[in-house]
Amino acid sequence: MDIENYISSVKGVIITAEEIQNGITKAGKYIDSLYDGRPILLTGILNGCFMFMADLARTVSVPCEIAFMAAKSYEGTESSGNVRITLDLERDISGYHVVIAEDIIDTGRTLKAVTEILRAREPLSLHVVALLDKPSRRTVDFKADYTIFTIPDVFVVGYGLDYNEYYRNLPYIGEINI
Ligand code: IMP
Ligand code: MG
Repeated sequence: MDIENYISSVKGVIITAEEIQNGITKAGKYIDSLYDGRPILLTGILNGCFMFMADLARTVSVPCEIAFMAAKSYEGTESSGNVRITLDLERDISGYHVVIAEDIIDTGRTLKAVTEILRAREPLSLHVVALLDKPSRRTVDFKADYTIFTIPDVFVVGYGLDYNEYYRNLPYIGEINI
């Protein structure tokens, strides 16, 4: 990473920190109304979800457990079978209402695979809340239950999202020159 170009590569702010927080507050209300006091297990796929999950968790009022997952996807093949869970939930989720907080849905492959794997474990319910969605990039059929921001096909960084592992700590979502 050329330090000279580090911040100048960010073309502009697409979603401000304040807009993110306002959107997340609404998503928290959606989760509260969905579960109506029933406890949930809030999970997300590292590393992208870390900031979103931290803020989303602070907006929900239902009793909430937190657990992280990690997954790797392999390029070059067509189906969702090429996603491998590298950090799994340790608990039996069959007694849980599970909510996945996802940073961004792009091709849809990661979440299609992860939700198929989790659904097979028969949780009480499973919902996906996505911070960002790029529906024009979809290669597999997948739709979140709640999407905060729909964006065009641009590469974005910040608020958990990276380019070569950088920029995850930006408090806003920016578009980057790559
Ligand atoms: P999918 O399986 O193609 O939906 O990929 C989702 C993953 O790709 C996300 O969790 C991100 O890690 C990554 N990704 C997709 N689009 C972007 C982007 O614009 N910026 C940063 N990461 C992205
Ligand atoms: Mg991710």
